[in-house]
Amino acid sequence: VPVEAGRLYGLGVGPGDPELLTLKALRLLRAVPVVAYPAPENGDSFARSIVAPWIEGHQREIAIRFPMRPGPPPVEIYDDAAAELAAELEDGRDVALLCQGDPLFYGSFINVFTRLAGRYQIEIVPGVSSLTACAAAAAIPLVARDDALAVIPATLDEDQIAARIAASESVAIIKLGRHVAKLRRVLNQFGLLDAAVYVERATLPTQRIALLSAIESDEAPYFSMVLIATSGRPDGRS
Ligand SMILES: C[S@@+](CC[C@H](N)C(=O)[O-])C[C@H]1O[C@@H](n2cnc3c(N)ncnc32)[C@H](O)[C@@H]1O
Repeated sequence: VPVEAGRLYGLGVGPGDPELLTLKALRLLRAVPVVAYPAPENGDSFARSIVAPWIEGHQREIAIRFPMRPGPPPVEIYDDAAAELAAELEDGRDVALLCQGDPLFYGSFINVFTRLAGRYQIEIVPGVSSLTACAAAAAIPLVARDDALAVIPATLDEDQIAARIAASESVAIIKLGRHVAKLRRVLNQFGLLDAAVYVERATLPTQRIALLSAIESDEAPYFSMVLIATSGRPDGRS
């Protein structure tokens, strides 16, 4: 008799503070026999560390390891991860794939989801995203009334970033990394440098909030973003 396939859960675990985990994510995390998570090539998974107090050791763990090079990871990583998770599901085991923040907001979960959707039952549990966590940490009213919000990866070209800033009222710039100098140049063109708020490691004990103009380094940690809200723009957009 073929076993019934397990179910895949995409569990959003929030931006970093374990208290920002949803009750639903916690319940499912404790119930599944297999927990998977993205991790660096060497070292600990941030997503796992957020829920570490509730991983009690009886579950099978699968680390999906990514090279720490800039740029998109090789597709084989997702192919292999999807195959490894599919094998668990085929054996009838439910799998929780942990996702920092929200699974469908720039989450690596998306790449596994697209490979397994249609083949298995998949349930996605939303998480507090870094976007709303950063706005809350900095107490920035992000969008109101008719405002449009652009979420812009700093990895884009200078002119693409500029075009998107020009088309929106509020702006969130993610994936800062080595792109801080480029970002400063673009924001200067718009007179927005002093309106840009830098938020690093939102909701963690090491959280840091500053004006971007006060940040001297041209490199930012991976978990950082810049927010510019309509309410802070000197160019009168609202
Ligand atoms: C690949 S995306 C993942 C986003 C995640 N799925 C979410 O919902 O927040 C990674 C980017 O999110 C932002 N980010 C994630 N967590 C953050 C945090 N705690 N503080 C500041 N920025 C964060 C950074 O810009 C980082 O480069």
